[in-house]
Amino acid sequence: MNNILKIKDLSKTYNTKLGCIEALNNITLNIKENEIIGIIGNSGCGKSTLLSIIAGLEEKTSGTIDAKNDFKVGYMLQNDALFPWLTILENATLGLKIKHIDTKENIEYAKYLLNTYGLKDFLNKYPNSLSGGMKQRVALIRTIAIKPDILLLDEPFSKLDLITRLDISDDVYNIIKKEKKTTIIISHDLGECISLCDRVAIMSKRPGKIKKIYDIKLSNKDIPSKNRLDEKFPYYYNKLWKEIDK
Ligand SMILES: Nc1ncnc2c1ncn2[C@@H]1O[C@H](COP(=O)(O)OP(=O)(O)O)[C@@H](O)[C@H]1O
Ligand SMILES: [Mg+2]
Repeated sequence: MNNILKIKDLSKTYNTKLGCIEALNNITLNIKENEIIGIIGNSGCGKSTLLSIIAGLEEKTSGTIDAKNDFKVGYMLQNDALFPWLTILENATLGLKIKHIDTKENIEYAKYLLNTYGLKDFLNKYPNSLSGGMKQRVALIRTIAIKPDILLLDEPFSKLDLITRLDISDDVYNIIKKEKKTTIIISHDLGECISLCDRVAIMSKRPGKIKKIYDIKLSNKDIPSKNRLDEKFPYYYNKLWKEIDK
């Protein structure tokens, strides 16, 4: 499989009034086309920093990130909320407007995504008429609508209750795979990573380094919530659990 992003020896130190904080230390990671790769690690180990640097929102201190010239990133931030005063369609097309690419064709694509992924009857409704899971789906569609080469999802399910999380992770998997999006997903939930991802990278405590990367090979990966019952699931769970800095 092709690598669509090559991260090499990436380091980041924040300079603050209180001194230097070394957030990332020599991260080397290749992202393969169409994979979902999970990044797991302790709170504060530098996961969000890594995504922000890939998205170009934060400067790196050293290292390189190689991608094609017009590489487009879709970044769903932690706690990325919908705007309550905008309709679902307006929320879903907001990214297009901000980037000045709200062409008829692109708006049609956003509508297609809403119609296809269970929001057909809600285009002109407001977020307060949606469940937590549906809101999350709209936030994802807003991110996909700009047709990014890579999706960066920062703890997308952390605010949802467990049952909603299981449902939405199935939905998210379905959308990502059908729309063929390469995805980096951050999570601190081991089960979520194993059930959803093709590979899982474990980061050390701050300063974050990549400790190990696992290929997750389960018998049928189509429905993440069912993967938790796969006979290999406990094997990966134990392996990753041992590897994580506590
Ligand atoms: N803008 C910033 N300025 C200074 N320090 C920061 C900034 N953003 C993050 N940090 C620090 O960098 C470290 C890594 O943070 P972060 O990437 O948010 O971790 P994670 O997402 O893994 O919880 C933390 O110690 C955090 O306090
Ligand atoms: Mg974070």
